[in-house]
Amino acid sequence: MNPTIQLLQEHRSIRKYTDQAVSDEMIETIVQTGMAAATSSNLQATTVVRVRQPATRAAIATLAGGQTHVSTAGAFLVWCADLHRSALACDIGGEKLEAGMTEHFIIATVDVALAAQNAVAAAESLGLGICYIGGIRNDPQKVADLLKLPDQVYPVFGLCLGWPAQDPERKPRLPLSVTLKEEAYDATGDQQAIDGYDEKLKTYYRNRTQGKVNRTWSEDMARLLGKESRPHMRTFLAGRGFTMR
Ligand SMILES: Cc1cc2nc3c(=O)[nH]c(=O)nc-3n(C[C@H](O)[C@H](O)[C@H](O)COP(=O)(O)O)c2cc1C
Repeated sequence: MNPTIQLLQEHRSIRKYTDQAVSDEMIETIVQTGMAAATSSNLQATTVVRVRQPATRAAIATLAGGQTHVSTAGAFLVWCADLHRSALACDIGGEKLEAGMTEHFIIATVDVALAAQNAVAAAESLGLGICYIGGIRNDPQKVADLLKLPDQVYPVFGLCLGWPAQDPERKPRLPLSVTLKEEAYDATGDQQAIDGYDEKLKTYYRNRTQGKVNRTWSEDMARLLGKESRPHMRTFLAGRGFTMR
């Protein structure tokens, strides 16, 4: 296994950080590495807002559901899908951006995810720990207001970065028989493989929490997907110009 593959396979989210600062230079290198990721038609729809102000960090930590690591991480970045800049480029290029296209929403959001994950790999290669924060979408309007995001820009997720003050075990993933298919989608054997994974994840949680958490992956999924999830997102996105047509 080469060192890059080893680094990527050793990922685990870090939610406790030391007080040691993360240098501006490091953050710039990390974000620049993110921007080197592939981008749909060279759209480059990712804009990152670094939040330094403790009051803003605390407000985001609270609205993300009391996630203190948003405040305590050495750095906190909000990754935004940005068609505002694309509209400007369109103007310069002599066309009006055709607003509200679902396809534009998809490519902008995919761009952000690819750039962020490239940045994460860079950060982890420097010894930093990271944690994505989807919790910012609990109140995306408040985040957009705090960061003064213009029209056609929406916050996809936050990202904590910092020097790890914990060394958690890696969280096991589903077996490859479930996630890698040959030629066509064949779900034969998936249920059995998921049963096996459920037991594995239960053991992982039990070890991590000294027996306090005793859940399977299927139970996690039922809790997550068996009810409405952030139903405000559709209206929020429409209000930003992502009307999905
Ligand atoms: C887009 C995204 C949003 C996430 N949001 C949160 C979050 O708000 N809070 C948190 O503690 N972890 C968050 N996570 C981390 C996941 O819970 C974590 O990646 C997953 O459980 C797998 O664990 P691992 O990263 O340690 O392997 C998020 C991950 C992703 C990719």
